[in-house]
Amino acid sequence: MKKLAILGSGSGSNMQAISDAIDDGTLQAEILLVASDHAEAYILERAQKKGIPTRLLDCGHYKQKFPAEEQARLAHDLKELGVDLICLAGFMRLVGAPLLEHFPDRIINIHPSLLPHYPGLAAWEQAIADGATESGCTVHYVDAGMDTGAIIAQRKVPVLPEDTAKSLHEKIQVEERTLYPQVIGVL
Ligand code: GRF
Repeated sequence: MKKLAILGSGSGSNMQAISDAIDDGTLQAEILLVASDHAEAYILERAQKKGIPTRLLDCGHYKQKFPAEEQARLAHDLKELGVDLICLAGFMRLVGAPLLEHFPDRIINIHPSLLPHYPGLAAWEQAIADGATESGCTVHYVDAGMDTGAIIAQRKVPVLPEDTAKSLHEKIQVEERTLYPQVIGVL
């Protein structure tokens, strides 16, 4: 039984998909903790509704940085809990040495593009602005860079002439919600 921790900053639809896959028996895993850097993030509410323990990360006054001390505290507590895979799902801070060293090749992320294309923010807007004819989503290992870790799996989505950034994002998210639980199941 895989023991997961999920980190997110926003809506948590991927966390929900992972949790639903566990509930319906398609993913053999257990979510031990959902953590967020934003007290008001909907991912925390979704987790609480499902009875999953939650944690608010203390990132002090930093808007983007994930302070090393907080990463070290989290790494320590996740080890104590017995977590063996950390899944980033819309987590908007870069993870660094304190977490990476404690969980080598055990931290993964889902990104809404076919990496290495369109790393960083609003990848669906980048794809539309670039005139791309296909995009998609990528699950990859996390390293210290932004969306640079080794690719594990990808799912393609066609970009149609009538697509807007919003419609493309929605189509990508539909694929994310099946790809992420599948990949977690085989890691
Ligand atoms: C997803 O599109 C994911 O690819 C990106 O952030 C978004 C998170 O959405 N990294 P949600 O919080 O899982 O709904």
